[in-house]
Amino acid sequence: MIFEQIATGGCQSYLMGCAETRSAALIDPEISQLDQYLALAARDGLHIRYLIDTHTHADHFSGARKLAERLQAPVVMFRRSPAPYADLRLGDGEMLMLGKMRIEALHTPGHTSDSMCLRVEDRVFTGDTLLIGGTGRTDLPTGDPHALYDSLFNRLLKLDPALMVFPAHDYKGRKHSTLGEEIATNPRLQVRDPQAFVEMMNTLNLSMPTHITEALRVNMSGGKSVAQMLAEAAASVPFMSLESLRASLEQVGNALVVLDVRERDAYEAGHVPGARLLPRGQLELRVNQELPDPTQRILVCCEVGKVSTLATATLREMGFASAVALDGGMKAWREAGYPLQTGPAA
Ligand SMILES: [Fe+2]
Repeated sequence: MIFEQIATGGCQSYLMGCAETRSAALIDPEISQLDQYLALAARDGLHIRYLIDTHTHADHFSGARKLAERLQAPVVMFRRSPAPYADLRLGDGEMLMLGKMRIEALHTPGHTSDSMCLRVEDRVFTGDTLLIGGTGRTDLPTGDPHALYDSLFNRLLKLDPALMVFPAHDYKGRKHSTLGEEIATNPRLQVRDPQAFVEMMNTLNLSMPTHITEALRVNMSGGKSVAQMLAEAAASVPFMSLESLRASLEQVGNALVVLDVRERDAYEAGHVPGARLLPRGQLELRVNQELPDPTQRILVCCEVGKVSTLATATLREMGFASAVALDGGMKAWREAGYPLQTGPAA
């Protein structure tokens, strides 16, 4: 087996492939690491055939759908997963062929109702059902401590104790353990009475994951996160530095239009000298009157550089092929002590 473990913060993804046929599967890909996964697969000579999510994640953004589109490979999830974009849905005990290897799905609800563990040769990918020295939480949507007890004690822990455990999370830099080690030392697995286990899980009082609302929206619908929208916009536009903008202001006959897309009060409190005001919310409505020449060089700025990136992408989509975004925003411009003009537009 060819095997790569990729950590993104505490999230763990796994790329594994059949050494003979070079067919590979990627487990729990994270959206910010797509290039990394593709680079590792290329370096190892692997062809990714399956993108597998062990469950609907509530704490990070799954990269499965995006990669699936890019690779023309199916997103694999549990049969009753809410994600509408899952192409290949596995039932309990069903297997995927990966060259000469077999990936067996075990339905292990508890952390979420669609959680599954994946057994492959000498190891088991436990998702958030079993972590090293812990278990997944059961207080997020579709979580159920009774089901987790059952999945652990009556299912997962009955497998061969020599199986290596690769979880979906580890926040302490550990790579793996074994089922035997977890049975012996994992504090939560020492609570073997079902009622006591449920009581323990119900009184953990964990704080909510930072992006839970957005992560569930994105992972359950296949929509995009705000960060993804920004990254896609940023990848489609060129940027100009604050220094080059300042230098260009001093050039005589400079044809650059500086377009400030903030609201009027922010603009009037201080803008780049000569900048024109066209709030982002009115861009499409007023673009024809305000910017009649599509070949015009336009530099778009906002307060911190995000809205201007989106506005620049919109302008380029509309045919303004020379629109560029400011790398940074008016906040950085002010902090750099660069010139400001106040008051209404001329
Ligand atoms: Fe999770």
